Amino acid sequence: MSTDAIVILKDDHKDVRALFREFEKSTTTKARKGTIVKKVIELLTVHTYIENEVMYPEVRRLLPDLEDDVLESYEEHHVADVLVMELANLKPGDERFEAKTTVLIENVRHHMDEEEQDWFPKVRQGLGRNQLQDLGAQLLEAKRKAPRSPAQPSALKKAVDAVVS
Ligand SMILES: [Fe+2]
Ligand SMILES: [Fe+2]
Repeated sequence: MSTDAIVILKDDHKDVRALFREFEKSTTTKARKGTIVKKVIELLTVHTYIENEVMYPEVRRLLPDLEDDVLESYEEHHVADVLVMELANLKPGDERFEAKTTVLIENVRHHMDEEEQDWFPKVRQGLGRNQLQDLGAQLLEAKRKAPRSPAQPSALKKAVDAVVS
């Protein structure tokens, strides 16, 4: 099985994008939207965790030229974290549920587009195949211990680190 780091991260993005599209369909019921948002929150909590803990610091260390991109990504994750934490406390019937989800979708799509179109190609160019395999194995390892809800201590710690560091 390939453990290419970029393939792993793109697969995550694909799952998130599919849920976003379903949320936006006019035929999606309110109840289903609630389920979709729960799943989105789980996927994003895991995904931002493994990028924050493994991908970003390793790329920053190995490819110092990409430091500005990494710093911008941390900030974009932070904005998403705030929206995710707020959204986790809303129900589909709440007035702000739909609007907040829409803003989360806009933000996360923009961030994933940037990673896929701009950042991943630079990372692939800068790192060799073996380094990407090794990074991917670390990502899978991090996934196993990643928080799945923004209320878990390791997720909160991540959010605090993003604010104070
Ligand atoms: Fe990211
Ligand atoms: Fe990502």
